[in-house]
Amino acid sequence: MSDNRALWDERARIHGSTPGDRFYDVESFLSGRQTLLPLERGLVGDVRGKDLLHLQCHFGMDTLNWARLGARVTGVDFSPVAVERARDLAVRAGIEATFVEADTQRLPAGLAARFDVVVATYGVLCWIGDLRAWMSGAAAALRPGGALVLVDMHPAFQTVASVEPLVADWPYGGGQAQYESVTGTYADPSVTVPVRETVQYPYSLGEIITAAAEAGLRIQHLGEHVETDLDPRGLLTPGDDGLYRFAFGDSFLPILYSLRAMA
Ligand SMILES: C[S@@+](CC[C@H](N)C(=O)[O-])C[C@H]1O[C@@H](n2cnc3c(N)ncnc32)[C@H](O)[C@@H]1O
Repeated sequence: MSDNRALWDERARIHGSTPGDRFYDVESFLSGRQTLLPLERGLVGDVRGKDLLHLQCHFGMDTLNWARLGARVTGVDFSPVAVERARDLAVRAGIEATFVEADTQRLPAGLAARFDVVVATYGVLCWIGDLRAWMSGAAAALRPGGALVLVDMHPAFQTVASVEPLVADWPYGGGQAQYESVTGTYADPSVTVPVRETVQYPYSLGEIITAAAEAGLRIQHLGEHVETDLDPRGLLTPGDDGLYRFAFGDSFLPILYSLRAMA
């Protein structure tokens, strides 16, 4: 029996609280550090005065940084620990925000047609068994003319277990459940946590774009990124310029994709 929620409760408890954490430095966030990257900021654009819904917001650092940029923000996550920590972080940072505990495959009806922007980033759809439900929930949350911005691991990069040597152990798409016993966290490999049985789902780019189109969204942009500010899987070594690349023969394979789709 898989238990993704137990894994994420555990991670929400740990993240930002161990010395070796590579992703979540809470103290610098509280001092004003902007955690959002140019990629998602560029695609979302000016958020001043806009209503923004952040799906799978974890413990809210990115959500609160959208608020720092001027948005009225709501974050959704299915982990009660993450939501509680996000609310606490908002108080500590003195930022107004709403956090809702919900499965992103079944968004509460009260979130429908209320947002100018729906955003989800870095480690999102691999946790979602019902891609259609996720996309139609995101689309339903938007006001007419609103935009969904999704930045996530490229399905080609997700197939890979290691880069040197190059080993692939995941399907490219298909949506079939992939069961895995997981211990530890990408944010701090030195931390030991109980083993959790997880289930994840591989989607091809075609399946993701088709789901967005079938949810009634109009695709405005699809990016495949071979040079990135972030390696969401911790498999790559940054170049001298600080950027990550996934070398493949004489060229590069994409690490991330980005989607902007309009309601
Ligand atoms: C990799 S994290 C997202 C990271 C986020 N971009 C950040 O860095 O703050 C994935 C998040 O998805 C949440 N999650 C996983 N499955 C979910 C579901 N079905 N509904 C809602 N949240 C879910 C987890 O609790 C976790 O917070």
